[in-house]
This record gives sequence, structure tokens and C-alpha cells, in this order.
Amino acid sequence: MIRTLLVGYGGMGKVHYANTAALESAVIVGIVGTERDREEAEKTGLPFFLTISEGMKALSADVIDITTPTFLHKDHAIEALREKADVIVEKPLALSAEDARKIYQAADKAGKKVYPAYVMRYTKEYDVLSSLVREGRYGNVAEASFWRLSEMPGWVDGSWLFDREKSGLIPFDLHIHDLDMIISLFGNFSSFDEYSPLSPDGMKHFYSIAYDYGSFRVTAEAGWLRGKIPFSSGWRLIMEHGVAVYDGNRITLYSEDGENDLTPSYSRIVSTGINVPPTGWYYEELREIYAAISEGSDGRVKKEEVFTVLGAAGKL
Ligand SMILES: NC(=O)c1ccc[n+]([C@@H]2O[C@H](COP(=O)([O-])OP(=O)(O)OC[C@H]3O[C@@H](n4cnc5c(N)ncnc54)[C@H](O)[C@@H]3O)[C@@H](O)[C@H]2O)c1
Repeated sequence: MIRTLLVGYGGMGKVHYANTAALESAVIVGIVGTERDREEAEKTGLPFFLTISEGMKALSADVIDITTPTFLHKDHAIEALREKADVIVEKPLALSAEDARKIYQAADKAGKKVYPAYVMRYTKEYDVLSSLVREGRYGNVAEASFWRLSEMPGWVDGSWLFDREKSGLIPFDLHIHDLDMIISLFGNFSSFDEYSPLSPDGMKHFYSIAYDYGSFRVTAEAGWLRGKIPFSSGWRLIMEHGVAVYDGNRITLYSEDGENDLTPSYSRIVSTGINVPPTGWYYEELREIYAAISEGSDGRVKKEEVFTVLGAAGKL
């Protein structure tokens, strides 16, 4: 059983806690947070610490799982690697490719591994998309589009999410999920075109982006919108002989022979407590990451992809 120290017990900390509890391969043995997390964290019955080093001194965990606000990822990941633990880090791994390189250098120095928890890459919906793109059964890709739209987030404690220096705003916080899928599927683009109007408070609240791949293009929309719209995310893949649409719920393939339901199913659904309905996504992500940790192999998200994605997000 892999023993994990969880760092951060806010929205995502609780998601990691609930999903790790559903796994047979790993167990959370302690929680690190701020004084404000103490009461909630202690309800789990686990020991609570204010620093990673205190937690590691008491528990010497095998893995440190970091779910703190984004601007703390670099320092927390490097500290965790110095403690000689493998490290899982919530998305985005860091706020620049340069910081991400420093994390991987610290991992090499410690002889440990970094597992960016980029959940979309571990979903079964991504597997369907990836096979359609890679197997080419319906011909070449003519156009792909991705969207991720939400009402203005009001659920994050404090203001770190709305500070570009701390969260990277929409490119690093929201669009990163799609950008990571785009780069992993199609590689780096040759150029891009972006439209991102300012809202009255001076923040860019909506991005419409076109990534140019020469023979085809990929478009994306990402927004924290001023309206109580339900969260929506999905993709559409136009191929020479078919179209696949993921509407955030079902995947339908429309080919010249008719219509096919490609929606995958999950064996384990876990409630999230955040603005995402109960899902198998985080369970699958952590299950596969812990399997990689047991084998000593890398996760799905490769470091060169991480650098490319962070570099691209930095240009938006
Ligand atoms: N994969 C996803 O679907 C998804 C969804 C939401 C957020 N996230 C990512 O998860 C991360 C956390 O986001 P959140 O929404 O949970 O934020 P949050 O503000 O709800 O929680 C952050 C937690 O970290 C704790 N913390 C702050 N400073 C700390 C420190 N120095 N030491 C230890 N703990 C500290 C806070 O007290 C809190 O418990 C972000 O990087 C975000 O991008 C990922």
C-alpha cells in the first residue's frame, strides 16, 4: 500500500482525499494545510501538519500529493522532492515552463518522479478522442474544436484565483485542460490567433483561439462568463469521413454509415464536492498514477508536453 501525505485541503484536496480513499493501492496518512484547514482536516481522523517537513518527519510517506493554490506548486513540489517522495501535483504543474523545468530537475536530483495531475488526459473520453485521431479510421482530421465555459467562479476561498501572478487566470487555470489535450494529440502548432475581449473589470473573461497546424486547425473557447450559465465542456472532431461530438455527457460518432454511441463507462463514480458532478475521472486518474508509481514508470503526461503547454499558455 502506497502511503501518501496530502498537501492542501480545499476543493481539490478533498477530491483527492475522497478518490484516494476509494483506491486499493494507496492510502492518505496525513494532511498538510494552513491553520484554516485544521478543523475540517481533523474530521478525517488523520494527523494534521502545517508544513511538509513536519508531516514527513512524523510519517515518512512514499508520495506527496500537492493540491495547493497554483502559485505554490513549484515550491511545494521542490520541497516534497527534497523529502525524497514521488510527487503528484494538481494542474497546472507551474506557471511557466521554466518553473516546471526546475521541478523536473529537482526530481532527477532526488531520483524521484513528478506526476502532473492533468485529469482530462486520464479520462476514458480522452481515450476515445485519441484513438479517433491516431487510428485515422475516418480519415485525416479537418478541424477539431474544444470548449470549456463556466460562470465566473465564486467558490474559491480568497482571491488567489483572480490574480494572474497566482493562478495564471483562464489560460493556465481553465484552458490548460484543453491545451494539454490539444498538444498531446497534435503536437505543437505552427502559429495561433487569439481573440480575448476585456470585461468591464479589466480582466480577460473569454478566449477564442485558433491553433494552426498547416493542413488543419484546432479552435478552442474558454471563459469565466458573467452569467449563471451551467458549466459546459466538450469537443468536436471533424474528419474526412465522419464527425465525433462529445457534448460533455455523451460521445456520438456520425459516419457515412450512420450514428454510433461511443460514450465510455466508468466502474467507480465518486462525488467531488466541487462544481463537477459525481464522476469517475479523478478515480481513474489517481488509479493510473499510483499504478505508474508502483511500477516506477512515468505517468501519461510527459515533461516535454508540460513545457510546451505552459509555454503556449504563457503567450495567451
Ligand atoms: N483538476 C481539476 O479539475 C481542478 C479543479 C479545480 C482546481 N484545480 C487545481 O487545484 C489547485 C487547488 O485549487 P482549489 O480549488 O482546491 O483551491 P482552494 O483554495 O480551494 O484550496 C487550496 C488549499 O491549499 C491550502 N494551502 C494554501 N497555502 C498553503 C500552504 N502554504 N501549505 C499548505 N496548504 C496550503 C489552503 O488552505 C486550501 O486548503 C489549483 O492549482 C487548481 O488549479 C484542479
